[in-house]
Amino acid sequence: MADPTDKMENIINLCKRRGFVFPSSDIYGGFNGFFDYGPLGVELKNNIKQAWWQDFVHRRDDIVGLDSSIIHHPTTWKASGHIDNFTDPLVDCKESKMRYRADQLFFAPVRVAGETIGYVSVLEDETMQAKAEEMANELKRKLAKQGALEPLTLKDYTEAKPEEHALIPSPATGKPGSLTPPRSFNMMFQTYVGAMQDASATAYLRPETAQGIFINFKNVVDTGRVKLPFGIAQVGKAFRNEINPRNFIFRSREFEQMEIEYFIAPSADWQTAHQGWIEGCLAWFESIGIPRAKLSLYPHPTEKLAHYSKGTTDIMFEFPFGVQELQGVAARGDFDLTQHSDVSGTKLDWFDEAAKARFIPHVIEPSVGVDRVFLALLTTAYHEDEVEGEKRVVLRLPARVAPFKAAVFPLLKNKPALVERAEALYRRLKKRFNVFYDESGNIGRRYRRQDEIGTPFGITIDFDTIEKDAGVTVRNRDTLEQVRMTEDEVVRFLDEQVNG
Ligand code: GAP
Repeated sequence: MADPTDKMENIINLCKRRGFVFPSSDIYGGFNGFFDYGPLGVELKNNIKQAWWQDFVHRRDDIVGLDSSIIHHPTTWKASGHIDNFTDPLVDCKESKMRYRADQLFFAPVRVAGETIGYVSVLEDETMQAKAEEMANELKRKLAKQGALEPLTLKDYTEAKPEEHALIPSPATGKPGSLTPPRSFNMMFQTYVGAMQDASATAYLRPETAQGIFINFKNVVDTGRVKLPFGIAQVGKAFRNEINPRNFIFRSREFEQMEIEYFIAPSADWQTAHQGWIEGCLAWFESIGIPRAKLSLYPHPTEKLAHYSKGTTDIMFEFPFGVQELQGVAARGDFDLTQHSDVSGTKLDWFDEAAKARFIPHVIEPSVGVDRVFLALLTTAYHEDEVEGEKRVVLRLPARVAPFKAAVFPLLKNKPALVERAEALYRRLKKRFNVFYDESGNIGRRYRRQDEIGTPFGITIDFDTIEKDAGVTVRNRDTLEQVRMTEDEVVRFLDEQVNG
């Protein structure tokens, strides 16, 4: 299974077949950019959010939580700069009616022996250079041009000169003349609040959870539980009208974010705080089962920084479709609090008792998408191997995030004593953990079904359990090792595995 496309397809199929993720509105043919999380998916997703909340809120003294509304006063988005700046460059193909993000559409002039003989265009992916070269060679052959093809330098469409727009072929038709110049497209979804449907009633679905935190800064400070430096954490839905949603749940139009705004004094060394958060986030990913070897850092070049940022480093993950952003860690300075103070007229500042001075704190923002963590975990955990000569699909999810922590099996379903004991253990475990009960089919098949959905432990009640009081067997999904333990020991064992 070396082909990464196959791996993604296998994962998408598994997600649908076993109830992790469904295309949204499936019965109506799906709805591009939206997904529904099924019975197993919602468990994995909740476990990710719970682990994050435990580690960044409950287990720290300096971060508190928040759950703001999704729709804010519309002026929030004027002040934050989203109405003016939260745009992607959009390009239309007038002939095919296809739409592209200009920064994902790449082109190059094709030059043979010093002469430009035409242009090629490709959509951004790992193989775009090779594809563009093949197209250039094809063009040279078609036009029967002699001489060496000059090396192709791909640029994205935002860098095309106005006179080049008419010469670059549309990726949909392969012909030039139908692409429009790029134009700014605001990615916020609009809606109306109240009975009127006019400009005065326009509101926006939040494109990030962050602004809900900034506009609540004063409320949180006034409740008196925090001391600088401190953070406010929020987990919740965000919405972006992405031009080109793609790669399954990686880039969707409705997703969930886990964000922290960590406030520091303006005199504090922001670079050190920023670096500290990058390292803290890397360590957290490792702790939930995303290997360090698949993570890398991408510091944004200064000229490409978002409108609010003094410095941003993305934590990248090696997805099957390429190395892509998993998390952004941005140093937002005092941009947001200053903007909201100025626009609202409410002072969003901090009084430093020692210095008897007021100032607007600066902020470091680690921001990560739940859905991307979900996908990173699934692509790390997905394996195909062989057990006792039989192929199996196994999700090696760590117990902390796995949908079911264990499955309980009576060895045989037609022996009431085995079934009774297994059901009793299942009921007991279910009070503390999400566990599954299965009595159908042979035991090997039952193990295989659980391996495929990532259940780390299989607990079997056999004749020794009831006749010799010899405990139950606990089978490890990854090592396949089976150990005997008493039912009390099983409770302690699972608690250790799940809660650490
Ligand atoms: N408040 C800062 C902010 O929203 P961002 O880099 O635009 O920054 C943060 O988004 C994270 O949210 C990303 O690193 C990614 O994990 C997730 N994310 C962003 N857009 C997404 C999308 N369309 N689909 C899924 N996740 C997305």
